[in-house]
Amino acid sequence: MHNQAVDTPVAIKKLVLGITGGIAAYKSAEFVRLLVKQGIAVQVVMTEAAHHFITPVTMQALSGKRVYTYMWDAGIPNGMPHIELSREADAILIAPASADFIAKLVHGRADDLLSTLCLARDCPLLVAPAMNRQMWEHPATQRNIAQLLADGVTVLGPESGEQACGETGLGRMSEPEALLDMLLAFQQPKLLQGKRILLTAGPTIEAIDPVRAITNFSSGKMGYAIARVAQEMGAEVTLVSGPTRLAPPRGVALVNVSSAGQMLEAVMQCVASQDIFISVAAVADYKPANPSAQKIKKSEQSLTLELEPTVDILSAVSSLPQPPFCVGFAAESEQLLEHAEAKRKRKRLPLLVANLVQDSMGRDEAGVTLLDDDGHHVFARAPKMEIALKLLQHIASRLQPSPRKTP
Ligand code: CTP
Repeated sequence: MHNQAVDTPVAIKKLVLGITGGIAAYKSAEFVRLLVKQGIAVQVVMTEAAHHFITPVTMQALSGKRVYTYMWDAGIPNGMPHIELSREADAILIAPASADFIAKLVHGRADDLLSTLCLARDCPLLVAPAMNRQMWEHPATQRNIAQLLADGVTVLGPESGEQACGETGLGRMSEPEALLDMLLAFQQPKLLQGKRILLTAGPTIEAIDPVRAITNFSSGKMGYAIARVAQEMGAEVTLVSGPTRLAPPRGVALVNVSSAGQMLEAVMQCVASQDIFISVAAVADYKPANPSAQKIKKSEQSLTLELEPTVDILSAVSSLPQPPFCVGFAAESEQLLEHAEAKRKRKRLPLLVANLVQDSMGRDEAGVTLLDDDGHHVFARAPKMEIALKLLQHIASRLQPSPRKTP
């Protein structure tokens, strides 16, 4: 069996990429480029059928390595390519994996180089299926996929969408960027396996009238990065998000909201079953007291808006009788640590992440300081994905192993 142990990271430095016969093979060219950019050495092995869709020359140029197809290749040093090529691989990924090739894997057939490599391997196997909707839905394919999963093979995708045959449905191979994401997620130690995490992210919008609103400059990038990495670390993630331009992270349950009131309602609806609550959203502290049902007309006079405070969602959660592990964010523009520590005490939080607004809002990078009962932990400026990873590792190290809550 090649099941990934729950907390054992698989560091993929050398990958055998198997390409089988399917129109999605054209995406494999871009996928190889992304893998190489990521510092992964890629050895491409193609089936004969794959040659009808993409040439070995293309794959060789992109991977920088000779492409193999045939069992009896004299160019392989010990004459045993099925041993030689998989010996040093950290994983084998078949993308695209045709319905036929998947069936072959299930039966342990070894009638060409790629299927033999899969059988003779001692490393994880991942497959990215790509086929017509009806082929994917066919009971035979579904049986085969279930068997592959039972054998410890990781299945990436497929996606739903327009297909080369003109139909629309499930069966499309995941896009190269998504495949890379899934491959990186596969390598992540599953420190949060079995944990339920609720996050808020992005800004809120408080209506003044039907066409105007009060909002802020939050992009949602930090919250989305945390949601994505938490999911990669094995958590079951619910993301309650204000309006952003970001794509929802794969595998995360997304609840779209607009105002602070809606965010509060969405959070309270599912918080009881959560192990961790991370409040990243830049929630409006005030909202118009009397939003107008009609557009407010311009006049020569100055206009005064009366604002009333919104409910502090984080405090509402942290003061529940049995709160989840609550993590707050403090966006400060000055006296970072003093203000942040006061906020942590006021909101009764085991952990608070402090950052300077001018340093992080809307950017792809951030530098933060974590405040908890042990003191301060500084995370130097880094991409938000990296900060998210370190933060979640820190949270995982602080969690008591507790029995799973029931909804
Ligand atoms: N927060 C919240 N609900 C609110 C306001 C804030 O849940 N109505 C949460 C934020 O998501 C964040 C933390 O409280 O995790 C701190 O938010 P921040 O804006 O830094 O602090 P405030 O409590 O709003 O205080 P101030 O604006 O005075 O700094």
